[in-house]
Amino acid sequence: MMYALARRLLFSMDAERAHAVALSGLTQAARCGLVQPGVATVVRPRTIMGLSFPNPLGIAAGADKNGEFLDGLGALGVGFVEVGTVTPRAQPGNPKPRVFRLPEVDGLINRLGFNNNGVVALLQQLERTRYAGILGINIGKNFDTPMEKAADDYVLALRAVYARANYITVNISSPNTQNLRALQEGDELAHLLSTISNAREALTQAHGRRVPIAIKIAPDLTAQQIETLAHTVQTFGMDAIIATNTTLSRQPISGHPLATESGGLSGAPLHEQSLTVVRTLARALDGALPIIGVGGIDSGARARAMLDAGASLIQLYTGMVFKGPELIGAILRDLA
Ligand SMILES: Cc1cc2nc3c(=O)[nH]c(=O)nc-3n(C[C@H](O)[C@H](O)[C@H](O)COP(=O)(O)O)c2cc1C
Repeated sequence: MMYALARRLLFSMDAERAHAVALSGLTQAARCGLVQPGVATVVRPRTIMGLSFPNPLGIAAGADKNGEFLDGLGALGVGFVEVGTVTPRAQPGNPKPRVFRLPEVDGLINRLGFNNNGVVALLQQLERTRYAGILGINIGKNFDTPMEKAADDYVLALRAVYARANYITVNISSPNTQNLRALQEGDELAHLLSTISNAREALTQAHGRRVPIAIKIAPDLTAQQIETLAHTVQTFGMDAIIATNTTLSRQPISGHPLATESGGLSGAPLHEQSLTVVRTLARALDGALPIIGVGGIDSGARARAMLDAGASLIQLYTGMVFKGPELIGAILRDLA
């Protein structure tokens, strides 16, 4: 109810600015004690990747790229938060405007391009947070690192965030960094995962702790590509697959005036496609690895559909833009 009023004001602003205003407002409210600081609601608790999740619902990457809003997001009762994507060096991302709302279909198109303050700034922010829940850190490559050196960027980021993360997500599925998605296949994937696996082995020895690694994939893969990828991810000892990132498809919004904007589509129009990928993955993995399902979750029914499709955990981002922070409580009540 509260969000209906705030939404009118927020939707009068540029989408990216509205996002910063809304999340810094929420974070300030949490810091001043206006909303309860991060006590996660206990609903369907579960142990996944060796971590104890109080409930299966988390905030997806991209909502808090620099770890600035954790206190606010943590106050919503979610079971976990994934910050990032963070790259080794700070970078500005693509020219603005680069986020577009499609309110008629509860969707967003974004071509942000990994705008972020870099790993060092992220770690500094994390020192200031009171959030004590499960923290995922999502890592990527800088846009100007050549593709042949992509693995080096992931290893740099992995080393930097290792001690602070409960789990680390390797993002190879953003459509807004040129050729990034090529890392999801063939020799590129095998080389990347073997490099990451060796780096993690050394870090496990050095830190005395093995941090689980999840691989985040695109929805625009064929069933055959998904099956091959599922096999490779297991071969290199990864711990989970996150499905999915945003889609390049415009089929669900064909004819929409913003359908020609380039970038990744998220929100309700993505939901069916993400569900299909999760179902295909679940068949291919046959329980060998957990799946974190994400894409268009904006109701209890869609949260349940994603869990029923084979996801052990779920995440959302775009649903909150259209339905507000109340959506988290509503989904958790529905799952209870
Ligand atoms: C504005 C925006 C920025 C995003 N940034 C990232 C990112 O930096 N890294 C990432 O892995 N996913 C990113 N995503 C993708 C989301 O994490 C999620 O996979 C996708 O939006 C589908 O979920 P949703 O429909 O609930 O938003 C972004 C999504 C949006 C809308």
